Parts: sequence; structure tokens; C-alpha cells
Amino acid sequence: MSDKALQTRLIHSDYTAPGGFAAFPTAIHHASTVLFKDVAAMRSGEWKDKSAYTYGLHGTPTTFTLEARLAEIEGGSHCLLAPSGLAAIAMVDFALLRSGDDVLLPENVYNPNRELGRWLSNDFGITARYYDPLIGAGIAGLIQPNTKLVWTEAPGSVSMEVPDLPAICAAAHAHGVLVALDNTWSAGLALRGFDIGVDIIMQALTKYQSGGSDVLMGAVITRDAALNERLAMAHMRLGLGVSPDDAFLVMRGLPTMRLRFDAHDAAARKVASWLKARPEIARVLHPAFTDCPGHAEWQRDFSGAGGLFSVVFDARYTEEQTDRFVDALTLFGIGYSWGGANSLVMPYRIATMRKQWGDAGTLVRLNIGLESVDDLIADIAQALGKM
Ligand SMILES: Cc1ncc(COP(=O)(O)O)c(C=O)c1O
Repeated sequence: MSDKALQTRLIHSDYTAPGGFAAFPTAIHHASTVLFKDVAAMRSGEWKDKSAYTYGLHGTPTTFTLEARLAEIEGGSHCLLAPSGLAAIAMVDFALLRSGDDVLLPENVYNPNRELGRWLSNDFGITARYYDPLIGAGIAGLIQPNTKLVWTEAPGSVSMEVPDLPAICAAAHAHGVLVALDNTWSAGLALRGFDIGVDIIMQALTKYQSGGSDVLMGAVITRDAALNERLAMAHMRLGLGVSPDDAFLVMRGLPTMRLRFDAHDAAARKVASWLKARPEIARVLHPAFTDCPGHAEWQRDFSGAGGLFSVVFDARYTEEQTDRFVDALTLFGIGYSWGGANSLVMPYRIATMRKQWGDAGTLVRLNIGLESVDDLIADIAQALGKM
């Protein structure tokens, strides 16, 4: 029995659990303070290469394990977690861009990434310029001496164009410019970004990795140690920590991710094929379909598709009618994001995103969940009838 006062024993205990416990899940380590064995260990702790634990923000066994697993999935060597996909995008920009630099973003990029570009342009002395996602090797004509970074998204997650990534990477690298890829649509399963030349892969783990529509998290993955160190400095300076409980939830999603992704993919192709035959639909924007700009690039570079695609309604339907369609769906929640078990729907004003498309008709994005495909198609059929 301890001779310390009860008040001290409430804080300090002599008990140590026996070692040797083993289970499949990685343990959830909660920590702000991380304890050092002695002062020498504190002085020698190196947080950047993850060889030591120094502070909860810089990593615990839980977050290091998730980072290592994500790097492995993507075919990379280093990974840094962020509290959302958007925070991961911001980490890349703040790590690599300085006042006077230039960054190129695709016109169809995830809108908050575009918004971040606008902020960098307006308030940080960085120019953000937007390029046609189908520009391919033509990106060389936009690269300036001060261009430091090209963002890509494959495909654009609303208008669904698939860029020619190898051509963009080759042109950028010829000018010493880094290429970052938002690889969220493929979950890192259907597109091997590093193998086709990109330098940095960003994932919104919020989608397929978590799979539960209940976690926000992002990751930035690289193969290059020096590049990772620049990112790690931004990670540290911005204080981008993630909750160990959320890291656990993402890790719990990983073993089933391939099965879920393939099930989303098969169901989405069935729904897209059904929609393609409908008179209300002018275009099916699914990279596996020939209507989709960049279909040939998808065929060349991707091995699958997941559950997210868009359709463009025939121009004879007003926005009021297509809104009625969206409201009439019963199995599709009206909401942003994707990658979870529940089907989702979201209408977009495409002309505001892609001027070239003009008044092409309303675009509606569908995230096909894991419900029965027949039920989803029946729901879409009844909703089309309400337009
Ligand atoms: C393509 C794409 N990238 C990044 C993000 C950002 O992810 P998060 O919601 O975790 O910030 C999203 C989220 O919708 C997305 O669709």
C-alpha cells in the first residue's frame, strides 16, 4: 500500500498493467503531454522523423500507425495527418508557397481549395491561377519562373473531368515544379498517383477510409524525405493535430475499404447505365462512360471508379424541376461529401464552375451508397416522375 496521501494517489498509482497484451486494433493513445524517460531523452527527441515521441501534437503510436498504413496504401514513404481534407490541402500550400510564388489549380477543383487559392492571391502575395483540367501537356504554357506548385484533382469531384496526369507531371517537372494530387475519389485504390509521376498525394480520409460519414480527417503523403520535412514543418507550425479516437475510426475502416469501394463502384456503374438510357438525362459524367471528358485517361490510368458521379439533365428541365427531383428522392440524403454507406445527392450550378459548359442544364451529383441497387434505381425512377 502506498504511503502517499489519497489526493496524491488519485493522480499517481503504483500499478502497471502486465505487458504482452495483443489484439488486432491499434490502441488509442490519448496524450497532450508525452513523458520522457529522462532529460537526455527529452533533449535528443527528434519529432520530424517520428523516431521519438515528444508531444501529442507531433504524434502518438496511434497516429504514427495510421500514417504508416496510409503511406503504404498509396505507395508512398511518408504521411502527415490533418484534421480535415481541407486542412491537408492548406498544409501543402503553406509548406510550399511563399510570397511572390505562383500556384496553378484546375478550374474544376474542390471549391474550398479554389477559395484557398483566392485567399492566397488576395492576402498572401501569392498568385493562384486556374487552368482547364483537360489542358494536359499544354500546362507547360502556363508555367512561369515563379510557379512552384500545380494542384490536380482526378477526376474533378463535381464535373468529373479526368486530367492527363502523366502529361501534366512531365511538363511541371521539366520546369522544376511540384505536382500535388487530390486522390480522394480513387481512395488511393484505383489510381497509383506516385507511379504516374505526382510528388504529393492528398487524401480526404473523411470519405472512403472512414466509410462512416462520421469523421473528418485528411492526409498528405510523399515519397521524398526532404519534401516530407518541408510539409512536417508546416504541420508543426500550423498545429495540425488529429484526435486519436478519430484516427482509430479511420483505421477501423481500412480493412473493409477495398470491399466497400468495389461495391460502390459496381452499384454506381449500374445506376449510371440506367440513367444513361433515360430521356431526362443529357449526359452521364462518370469517368468509366464515354460521355465523360477524360474517359480515355481514366481507362489508361485507373483501375476502378468508386461511387461518385454526376449527371447533367436535359436543358429542357428547369432548375425548379431538377430541384423537385432531388427533393423527391427518399433513399438519397441531400448533403455534401461521399464515401459512406448512405447514398447522397447534391445539385450544382455547373455554369458557375465551368464557364465553357454554358447553360448546359442542371448537374446533379450522386454518391451511390451501399443500399440495394434495385431500391436506389426505383427511388430515382419515382423521383424523375415527380419533376
Ligand atoms: C475532392 C475533395 N477533396 C477534399 C475534400 C475535403 O475533405 P474534408 O471534408 O475532410 O475537408 C473534399 C470534401 O468534400 C473533396 O470532395
